[in-house]
Amino acid sequence: MKPLKIGNLTVGFPVVLAPLAGYSDLPYRTICRLLGAPFATTEVMIDRFLLHESKLRRFILKTDDGDHPVGGQFMGSDPDLMAQAARVVRDLGFDVVDLNFACPVKKVVSRKRGGFMMTQPEAVVDIVRRVRDAVPDRPLMLKLRRSFVLEDGESEAFWRIAEGAFEVGADALCVHARAVAQQYTGRADWNFLSAVKRAFPDKTIIGSGDVSSAAEALRMIDETGVDGAAAARGAIGNPWIFRQARELDAGRPALPPTLAEQREVLLRHYNLCLRHYGDWKGVMTMRHLGIGYARVHPHPKRVRMAFVAVRTAGDWQAVLETHYPAG
Ligand SMILES: Cc1cc2nc3c(=O)[nH]c(=O)nc-3n(C[C@H](O)[C@H](O)[C@H](O)COP(=O)(O)O)c2cc1C
Repeated sequence: MKPLKIGNLTVGFPVVLAPLAGYSDLPYRTICRLLGAPFATTEVMIDRFLLHESKLRRFILKTDDGDHPVGGQFMGSDPDLMAQAARVVRDLGFDVVDLNFACPVKKVVSRKRGGFMMTQPEAVVDIVRRVRDAVPDRPLMLKLRRSFVLEDGESEAFWRIAEGAFEVGADALCVHARAVAQQYTGRADWNFLSAVKRAFPDKTIIGSGDVSSAAEALRMIDETGVDGAAAARGAIGNPWIFRQARELDAGRPALPPTLAEQREVLLRHYNLCLRHYGDWKGVMTMRHLGIGYARVHPHPKRVRMAFVAVRTAGDWQAVLETHYPAG
């Protein structure tokens, strides 16, 4: 695998953690990095919420010395607000400024943000130009979908955005190879990723969609020629995907984590979450994440149900002791 670069930043290993609302917070990024993720991004924020101090902003934007290189992602449609938000992200120490024009959530699209912008190519290029001017010293990346509706086989808006964005100085595209209207269903169109890389052979393209395992991450890079693969749902509950991808790349088998390893990572993640969110929200977050982790346990259904039933810190620890025995 060739090392991934985003602008002047050398990321290295090309399988990265995708931005994931409800998941890619500082604790999860820390766990993924421990297991080999070379780069990670915050979940998406709304541009104007970045401009004022709030509890939400604190949780989402918190980073630390070990959490680098890291991308800060936001969305919006007003070039002024987007440029101001980019400065905030830069000033908070994020290494990459990441603009989201891909989010398919109904409330977001109906407010003309996120994926809605795939219907507004000129406006997107204008935003990219303004953000580029506002933060000339940070790598700048865009998250795009292949089109707004599935029926748009030509993806005309995508090509106008991609060409325009590179012209005004964007450094990389992360392309989710589904239409906005598909949300997260249907197969991602990897042929589209091949076409994007063919059209921009000298630019950094990160592929997203159906990176369900380490093997699929490497296959995406191999078959489509993209420079990197973003692990999203494939990394939920399975942060080992990054270690496995490195192992496969080195010609070794991608072994699943042992129960002892799962216990160690769960405990570490639990402690990080308590520190990040405080006791109550920390336990509730780990209840939710435990449900994800259950899928790599030898008895996924049983462990999933046990995490679903958690109401207190004591319940959570009991699930760990029962289903993830020490050494
Ligand atoms: C729960 C969830 C939250 C997501 N949040 C974000 C987000 O905040 N920003 C973003 O750019 N993409 C987000 N995505 C999209 C993913 O980064 C990725 O592009 C998408 O899931 C396709 O990859 P996959 O098929 O391998 O899961 C999210 C996806 C999921 C499932």
